[in-house]
Amino acid sequence: MMQQTKEKILQLKREKDVCILAHSYQAQEILEVADITGDSFALSKAAMEVPQENLLVCGVHFMAETAKILSPQKKVYLAHKGAGCPMAEEFTPEEILAYRKAEPDRAVVAYVNTTAALKAVSDVCVTSSSAVEIVKKLDAQKILFIPDCNLGSFVQQQVPDKDIQLLDGGCPVHRSVEAWEVEQARKEHPGAELLVHPECIKEVTAQADYAGSTAGIMKYARENSGKEYIIGTEMSIADHLQYQCPDKRFYPLSKKLICPDMKLTTLNDVLLSLEGLEAGEAFEIVMEEKLMDAARVSIQRMIELGE
Ligand code: 13P
Ligand code: SF4
Repeated sequence: MMQQTKEKILQLKREKDVCILAHSYQAQEILEVADITGDSFALSKAAMEVPQENLLVCGVHFMAETAKILSPQKKVYLAHKGAGCPMAEEFTPEEILAYRKAEPDRAVVAYVNTTAALKAVSDVCVTSSSAVEIVKKLDAQKILFIPDCNLGSFVQQQVPDKDIQLLDGGCPVHRSVEAWEVEQARKEHPGAELLVHPECIKEVTAQADYAGSTAGIMKYARENSGKEYIIGTEMSIADHLQYQCPDKRFYPLSKKLICPDMKLTTLNDVLLSLEGLEAGEAFEIVMEEKLMDAARVSIQRMIELGE
């Protein structure tokens, strides 16, 4: 049954000129039908470069918005209408404009996990794989980093010469992991290295053998000689790594590391989106041109500085 669904998806995406972009937190069967898989930065870049006229994003809403902003001439769809990122909406553009007004010489750096309206009032976007490099390169000494205070604090540690102000936002999934869970996991798997996403709290990140983006964690685990790893990011990454590296062992750091929004999309949603494309049944991302133009400036700056 699943095989039939996959074959139908592969056939429809070819017939209808659709590129499927899937974030690495999606289920294995979705990654298998995707044209592009990767973390937020990889998906943003691919959205601009792929030749297809239609993009179907398997991930959360801000990722589809980013794809649309970068390719406004294309039709962009989100495979599951209800898949959002709670962190993306933790602040309003009005709040950020008030900070800007109070301190005009402080550059606003927005994690790409934000709404288009927040990107539009920011100077540059970053992803977890490019945040440190971009903040270093930015010709501003004073920075307001939104919305994730844990990723912001990770950047602060790597770029101590800049004045980085943080707000109290963050990913509810990664920030839920507590320091005692690290102690417990280390006791259970004494020979394993701990790889952690910087959206985790600093008491967790501080204990890691490696802290970095989803792509960074996957690269580290694939390329290093260690045989066992505790994975401190969304549960699916431990599963994907186990699939890719059967001779190694991967253990999730915490049972709490499941993003409910990332888990909403099923193979059937992908099939229904493709089938319903012309009938207007797929969830298309539609945005005002003015908003897209304003948000594009900070995303394009991210791509230029992140190369
Ligand atoms: P990256 O894809 O940048 O690693 O971000 C992790 C995440 O939480 C995506 O929603
Ligand atoms: Fe948002 Fe966190 Fe889920 Fe990523 S893992 S989509 S940041 S809630």
